[in-house]
This record gives sequence, C-alpha cells and structure tokens, in this order.
Amino acid sequence: MDHFLYRDGQLFAEDVPLAQIVEAVGTPFYVYSTATLTRHFKLFDEALGGMPHLICFAMKSLSNQAVLRVLAQAGAGMDVVSEGEYRRARAAGVSGDKIVFSGIGKTAGEMHVALQGGIRQFNVESEPEMVVLSRVALELGVVAPITIRVNPDVDAKTHAKIATGKSENKFGIPISRARDVYKMAAGLKGLKVVGIDVHIGSQLTELAPFEAAYLKVADLVEELRADGHTIDRLDLGGGLGIPYTRSNEAPPLPTEYGAMIQRTVGHLGCEIEIEPGRLISGNAGLLVSEVIYVKEGEDREFLILDAAMNDLIRPAMYDAHHDIVPLIEAAPGAEPAKYDVVGPVCESGDTFAKGREMPAMKAGDRIAFRSAGAYGAVMSSEYNSRPMIPEVLVHADQFAVIRARPTYEEMIARDTIPEWL
Ligand code: LLP
Repeated sequence: MDHFLYRDGQLFAEDVPLAQIVEAVGTPFYVYSTATLTRHFKLFDEALGGMPHLICFAMKSLSNQAVLRVLAQAGAGMDVVSEGEYRRARAAGVSGDKIVFSGIGKTAGEMHVALQGGIRQFNVESEPEMVVLSRVALELGVVAPITIRVNPDVDAKTHAKIATGKSENKFGIPISRARDVYKMAAGLKGLKVVGIDVHIGSQLTELAPFEAAYLKVADLVEELRADGHTIDRLDLGGGLGIPYTRSNEAPPLPTEYGAMIQRTVGHLGCEIEIEPGRLISGNAGLLVSEVIYVKEGEDREFLILDAAMNDLIRPAMYDAHHDIVPLIEAAPGAEPAKYDVVGPVCESGDTFAKGREMPAMKAGDRIAFRSAGAYGAVMSSEYNSRPMIPEVLVHADQFAVIRARPTYEEMIARDTIPEWL
C-alpha cells in the first residue's frame, strides 16, 4: 500500500495534489511519501517483533538525507556500501553504532573513516579485505566488529544483474570455505567476529530462496559455535521484492518473511539484522513527468516525455516495468490508447515502455511512474547534459524540495578548462 491516490480525479501524494508540486518545482521530479516510508519500515519492525533486531535500510536504494532522517527517526539503522554513503548517513544524524558497512571493495581509507567515526560492523567479503581491516584497526588502536558474508550458492530466481547468491557471483565467501575463513579471522588482531552475513539478491518474489539460504546459515551457526566462535548476530541481507504492477503480482509480505526468519534462525538466540531497500523505498516514490509531444510513427505512437533514461534507468537497464498513470484520472469509459513511452535522449534504449496501454495523452499532460522510489534518483545521471532532477518529500499536507534542481550554470561550472587550452 502507498499514499499516492486519486481524489476527485486528481492524483495526490498524501494530502498534496501533485499538480501543486508541478506548479512549484516544474517537471520532471521525484516525490516521496513520508507516510509510505514509515509504514513500510514499521511492517518490517513488527514482522521481526518477536526477536531482538535492527532494520538497516539499504540506502543505496534511496539516499537523500531527508529520507534517511525519516527512517532514522522511526528507529532504522543503515546499510552503507561506500564512504559517501557512510558520510551521508552520519550527516543525516544516524549514529555509527547503527551502521553496517557492506560491499566487496572497501578500501583502507573507507575502513579508516568508518572505524574512526563509529561503526556497528563490517560485513567482510574476502580474506584480503580481512587482512587490510585488521591492519587499519591495529593502526588506529581499535577493534573492528565483523561478520563474514557467506555465499550460500542459492538461486534467487531474480534478474541476473541483481542476483548475488550463486557461486558464480562476485559476492561473499563460498559457504563451503566459511569455517576456514572464520578460523583465519579469529587469528587476526584487531578483528572481533560477531556474526554471519548473507544477501542473495534483490527483487525476490518468493520466500523459498531466502529460506534455503537461511537454513544453510543456521547450520553454519552451529558449526562455528562448535569451533569456538561467538555468533551473536545474523545479518540476513535485503532483497524482498515489491509489486511493480497493480494487478497480478503478490510477492510475500514482510509478516510472512518475518515468520520464515523466526522459523529458520529464531531458535539460535541471535540478534537479527536485515537490510531492506526496495521494499521500504520503492513504492514510496513517484517520478512525475510531462508529455512533450505525441508523435506518429509508422505503426505506433510515441509518447515523448521530459523524463529520460538518465532520470530513471531501470527500464533500459533491467527491462523493468513501471506502471505509468496520469495525474488527471481518465474519464470513466474513455477509450485507452497505446504508446511507446520514450524520453528525449538520443538512443533507442531510452524507452520506458513499449505498446503500453494507457489513457490517451496530449502534449502538456502529466504522468507519474509508480514504484520509482528505489533505485531511481540514486541511479540518475546527467547524460545528454540533462541536469539531475529535484527530489520532493511530502508529509501530510506539506511538501519540501529535498534536493534542488541545479541550474544549467551550476552544472556547467563543474568542468574546468585547463589554462593551456
Ligand atoms: N544488502 C546488500 C548487500 C545489497 O547488495 C542490496 C542490494 C541490498 C541489501 C538491498 O536490496 P533490496 O532490499 O533493495 O532488494 N539497481 C537494482 C537493484 C540493485 C540491488 C543491489 N543490492 C534495481 O534497480 O533493481
């Protein structure tokens, strides 16, 4: 459920008509609902209610500091994957002891910053990373809490570009080698093993792959404890999928996911951490855009928008589907039209949807892409020298620009022409 609903034929974000935001900031823009963000966070919080837990929002999905502040105030920690994300989380007011640091390529510099600033744990992904972390911790005279990310060799049954838990993927340590690697960790100074980490992929629409992975992790907990390690925390990653269409998709609910966690690892007495991104932010955001032209092709009509692949890359990159809805609801019984929905960028990949059935549109009409909160703004770029689009946060009947649209001057001024030219 989200908080983008029609009232009297007009699409609203909570209690704000989107037309009002269009007037204030111009299109295109991203808009997020505070109520949806907190609602989704609370669903997870309640689903894990029976176990000690921390929900670390995967801020790679949506990293605006205002959004981080909303979630932090609701009690969230953060899952970060770079120094930039770490600094952003801290700037948004998240304390270090609620931040977990994931990623396969953490540099010594990044480790340094996180150890000095405070960190809950590093999710270590390789032996060489462990050696560097030990060295950095010793240099600073501190102890780095770690989990080791294991790769359970489970098929997440999702898009190949976002599956991470098979042995051919670059992530984690093969679970078959985990005991050796934990032994190595125990022998390295400056490290303290606190648990195990696993993340098998994103946009999972079934529980079975999670369950298979968590059962393997549960076995590993027993083995590692028998080997003398302290395993108090399980970071079970993110990945629970969301419905991208209103009709035929029904991925498992957070309550079902929570019950499965309880069933598979609940008996181990560990603190549970999860790293959801998409389920919290995905349906909490829209991308709002205006129709520039409706163009007649040979055998089809093109709806040319002022948003493009640089603003929302998911359709071009993953063939992802986003529902597209008008800001003014079509009259009941109005004849639908069919469009190839495209942006102005100069490549055919800049196509949001092909043959999409939707209400008939004309130049100047506004539409919204649904489910654009996750991996939307964060993956945008200035390709074709199109300035990054603004982000807006709605809270009940208020809204605020939380990232302004840069001026062309600002964008252009970032380049430097060397004096020898
Ligand atoms: N934890 C780790 C270690 C991850 O790598 C990810 C996502 C998450 C948590 C959060 O997963 P989520 O709950 O959001 O599924 N750009 C792609 C998705 C990439 C996901 C990368 N890792 C997309 O637009 O679909």
